[in-house]
Amino acid sequence: MSERSSSSTAGASLRDVAVEVLTPREAKREHAALAAEIAEHDRRYFGEDAPTISDADYDALRRRYEALEARFPDLATDESLTKKVGTRPSEKFAKVRHRVPMLSLSNAFADEDVAEFVVRIRRFLGLAPDAPLVITAEPKIDGLSISLRYEKGRLVTAATRGDGEEGEDVTANARVVDAIPKEIDAADMPEVFEVRGEVYMRHADFAAINQRQAEAGKPLFANPRNAAAGSLRQLDPAVTARRPLAFFAYAWGDVSALPADTQMGVVEALGRWGFPINPLMKRCHSVEDLLARYHAIEADRANLGYDIDGVVYKVDSLALQERLGFVSRSPRWAIAHKFPAERAMTELLDIEIQVGRTGALTPVAKLKPVTVGGVVVANATLHNEDYIRGIGGDGQPIRGGIDIRIGDTVEIQRAGDVIPQVLGVVMDKRPAGSEPYRFPATCPACGSHAVREINPRTGREDAVRRCTGGLTCPAQAMERLKHFVSRNALDIDGLGDKQIELFFREGLVHGPQDIFTLAERDAASLKKLKDREGFGETSVRNLFAAIEARRRVPLNRFIFALGIRHVGETTAKLLARHYGTFEALRAALIAARDRASEAWAELNAIDGIGEVVAEALVQFFAEPHNETTLDALLTQVTPQEMERTVTIESPVAGKTVVFTGTLVRMSRDEAKAMAERYGAKVAGSVSKKTDLVVAGPGAGSKLAKAQELGVEVIDEDGWFTLVGA
Ligand code: IVH
Repeated sequence: MSERSSSSTAGASLRDVAVEVLTPREAKREHAALAAEIAEHDRRYFGEDAPTISDADYDALRRRYEALEARFPDLATDESLTKKVGTRPSEKFAKVRHRVPMLSLSNAFADEDVAEFVVRIRRFLGLAPDAPLVITAEPKIDGLSISLRYEKGRLVTAATRGDGEEGEDVTANARVVDAIPKEIDAADMPEVFEVRGEVYMRHADFAAINQRQAEAGKPLFANPRNAAAGSLRQLDPAVTARRPLAFFAYAWGDVSALPADTQMGVVEALGRWGFPINPLMKRCHSVEDLLARYHAIEADRANLGYDIDGVVYKVDSLALQERLGFVSRSPRWAIAHKFPAERAMTELLDIEIQVGRTGALTPVAKLKPVTVGGVVVANATLHNEDYIRGIGGDGQPIRGGIDIRIGDTVEIQRAGDVIPQVLGVVMDKRPAGSEPYRFPATCPACGSHAVREINPRTGREDAVRRCTGGLTCPAQAMERLKHFVSRNALDIDGLGDKQIELFFREGLVHGPQDIFTLAERDAASLKKLKDREGFGETSVRNLFAAIEARRRVPLNRFIFALGIRHVGETTAKLLARHYGTFEALRAALIAARDRASEAWAELNAIDGIGEVVAEALVQFFAEPHNETTLDALLTQVTPQEMERTVTIESPVAGKTVVFTGTLVRMSRDEAKAMAERYGAKVAGSVSKKTDLVVAGPGAGSKLAKAQELGVEVIDEDGWFTLVGA
């Protein structure tokens, strides 16, 4: 939820003037302007799959439109947008679960990041700085990724990335893309092979298609990426067939065998099997080599005929890739070196304060819309109060101490999928008489004091101002609900920000538990959901079915959905894996209130959980309101045990292992990653819960403790024999 924080200024457009003070003539003008704007956003959303504003901003436009009609009923003619129904189709495509998750890449922006990437790999593998290490470099295609599953050489499924675990089934559409082989007749094609790559559109085809759209009076696509996505992700394969889509293969998922033992070798095999592969992919032998390749590809960028947004580096040896493994959602063995962000100048029309689910007040720049690298930007982050004032995270001046004011001409930057940000101010264009922005000291949603906490670790004031309304602040409550149903949390189809806002506003849903009683209450109610604006019989039926389907939900998603401060997806997964069931987690966190307890020690011993997170977890479960909400929620939802993508059968699966002393055959990081790959938990200290200690030369107190407790101790070679590596 967001509230306008600034008052209108003289000479500003009507958009800044409160509905209550508009004259009938002004209201009519504003109503027409809003109608045009909303229609345009609807077209982008429904027609093109390419919205250019957030749902919250869209809703604000809609609300203002409705408020105008409420005050001036004459405006509500039959032509009014409030009389038209149109809602997002909730279930366009069937879902496909990826057998091997589709991961993302971490990013490098500067040359130093690339050097660090290589150092990290060497350190992890225990390679000397001069030991040979081959890394491939290839363009990062700006399209949408797809996974193509072949069984006995025949294309059987095509799926989009989705959330990485589950994508949309676009098989019918993929079958009509010429660049995607439907049948592969190659002796070395394994029984099962999932080819992954990027569907994209070439510049020339994009221009032609937009020309056709224009001639037919149809909406234009904003950029080739949107055109490719819109062409693949639509329900009629006949339409896809008319769209000139291209494809590059660069990776793979579930496979029964591999045709080579290097990245380059497998990609070359893909080329032989008939998949288009990128001709610019090369093997490199040093950081200098990688950077030279990056600059060569960047120099060629304008001549390629398709969009790329960086260069991807991948360790060539698949054996080393396997050893390197993954951190969270990205492989340790690859990185995307992005091209510099695109920038543009525009006017800062207003500053809006958004209240997040943890009460953080975030200033958002409302900009005069401007195109940056093919995307229309109307909002950008201003980070926090200090940033607006010209003070950096370290308390030192930034931008030479220049503040940012409403009315300023500002430079904005957009880098890939990152939220655009305001970089600086063009001082020559600062309007005379402008005033420094005054950050609100109260929450715009609930009026509670908003304060900057003192960080206990640094002793400094936090840069973020937070609403102190806590559980009473409606904005926080609503944001928590939005988070609860969001894609990486419960992921309820048809229940997005817009619907949550409506349900919350109308008092239909106060807390997460109410979502699961909606259908029952709707059946008993006279004012049914299906009769409301934006809903219909089918969409309501689909919504209730989607809610019903989430009564059983993977434990990690459930934990993440609770929106506990500092508990992101990775931490939620760690907790789910460690405690197994929600009951066990809850009991442990209640017991951990006592800092002298085993439970508190165990929580802190989980690798990846630090004191701040542990503290936040204990606090969350100690809050009486959370207890009540959880009890109510658990009568509706059953969190399932953690679903594992690969079932691990190994002698150390489920065991708690401690490594100590010097390791010779692998680095400490690698040992840990390896143990986790085999399903073990790695702890930093030895306790009664330790099952195994792997001790190298020089092991001291941990080894002694293990012996004292009678825990099994083996050496490094013993470890390799045990796991069979
Ligand atoms: S490799 C395990 N190679 O970038 C890593 N990705 O941020 C698999 N992408 O979702 C990805 N060009 O859509 C890889 N040459 C390339 C790529 C590429 C574009 C996209 C892909 C992925 C995203 C990761």
